[in-house]
Amino acid sequence: MTKPRLWITRRLSDATLERAARDYDTVINHEDTPGSADALIAASAEFDAIIPCHSEHFSADVAAQLDPRLKIIANHSVGVDHCDLPALAARGITVTNTPDVLSDATAELAMLLMLGAARHAVAGDRIVRTGAWDFWSPSFMVGKQVTGSRLGIIGMGRVGRAFAAKARGFDMEIHYYNRSPLPEDIAAGATYHDTVESLLSVADFLSLHCPATPQTTNLMNAERFALLPKGAVMVNSARGALVDEAALLKALASGQIAAAGLDCFQVEPGGNPAFAAHDNIFMLPHIGSATTRTRDAMGFRALDNLDAFFAGQTPKDKL
Ligand code: DGY
Repeated sequence: MTKPRLWITRRLSDATLERAARDYDTVINHEDTPGSADALIAASAEFDAIIPCHSEHFSADVAAQLDPRLKIIANHSVGVDHCDLPALAARGITVTNTPDVLSDATAELAMLLMLGAARHAVAGDRIVRTGAWDFWSPSFMVGKQVTGSRLGIIGMGRVGRAFAAKARGFDMEIHYYNRSPLPEDIAAGATYHDTVESLLSVADFLSLHCPATPQTTNLMNAERFALLPKGAVMVNSARGALVDEAALLKALASGQIAAAGLDCFQVEPGGNPAFAAHDNIFMLPHIGSATTRTRDAMGFRALDNLDAFFAGQTPKDKL
């Protein structure tokens, strides 16, 4: 039987690529460059399936130009803000993502961001590394203690819950905002807030875990930063679109926000050059799910979705 033709837009894990090559007529973009709109449109005439990452943008404009040969886009990501889902659905294209398997890795990175931002990781590392550490005092690099503090989580989906589980190890008092409250056994003692504003008023530490949608664009803006307790720490390991970066800089400058830990930026790759001058911003280059185990699991989950689709079943993660 002829194998379906599959295009893999980026260099996925070796285990993923081996399995893909075994089961599909696979072409891999070994150059590992992001797929342009033209490349996606051209590929749709040659391939039955594409495994893209969040670096490939299936806008409404691209969706409208896709060849009917393309049947499924099996994303190698949980976030799908790079896909115009209604436009792809209108073209009859199945779209899947990779939930669950990256929750722990992303939550672990959010914890690193929170600790790093709270405890001066940027300045501390630099001062030791550059040989500039020539002074110590009890008032030197005093940070904000995570243990026992109040944590606000916006978006109590899989990653938000995984982050809450890790935060419980730090005895944090957990509060959350979600569209609806979680069942009590899952909330595990976390306090529900039915508005973002109510949550912010208690969030000495704030972590964002909701998807980027038109409704959540600039979710954290000047008005909302002002609602946080003075000296709060904000962490974003979800999507850059959630934060008004100019407002964040102002909140940091005024001391309203003591520090921020960011793995996501409005412009990626690259980030915000204006952040570089600020030691109280601890930054990483969108690597929340970047562990060997999780990258294998994401690749396998995307392939599981393809296997189901080509076996005539509904893929587990069909959106
Ligand atoms: C995701 O899965 O959405 C991560 O941000 C990596 O793309």
